[in-house]
Amino acid sequence: MRGSSSPSISDAVLRRLALGLLVFSVGCAGLPHPTELDVARARTRWPDATVGSLEAARGVYVQRCSACHPLHHPQDYTASEWDVELAKMGPRAHLTPEEQDEIRSYLSNVRGEKPPAITGGR
Ligand code: HEC
Repeated sequence: MRGSSSPSISDAVLRRLALGLLVFSVGCAGLPHPTELDVARARTRWPDATVGSLEAARGVYVQRCSACHPLHHPQDYTASEWDVELAKMGPRAHLTPEEQDEIRSYLSNVRGEKPPAITGGR
């Protein structure tokens, strides 16, 4: 029958895709990228936050906090626990108060959820 799919080819393709995704996510340490939901959360404390500013903060975190140990996931600690950790780790990473606050804006807000679908109306 012409309409039947050909499982051997698609299985091989799927396997390769799955492997690629695995390598990709391990390589990035699974560190989430900011979404609009994260921005909404961040603005309660950082009114000027944008996806771009949180993405930049992610970059500072990756650059400044990975020298001595693997990066921790933002969800490993609550916002107030991150305040404590950053007060401890900021001096070790030789952060300026501005850099420390920037990293805090990423760690205490970015969860990386998909933004809700746009439902239209209004
Ligand atoms: C100069 C090395 C160094 C740098 C840079 C560094 N850390 Fe650490 N970090 C450590 C050590 C050593 C520990 C082990 C626990 C301890 O000694 O307090 C640790 C532990 C931690 C822990 C686990 C909490 C605990 O009490 O065990 C967290 C979370 C953490 N670091 C976050 C960060 C963040 C965020 C940054 C970037 C601002 C950072 N670290 C930069 C050395 C460093």
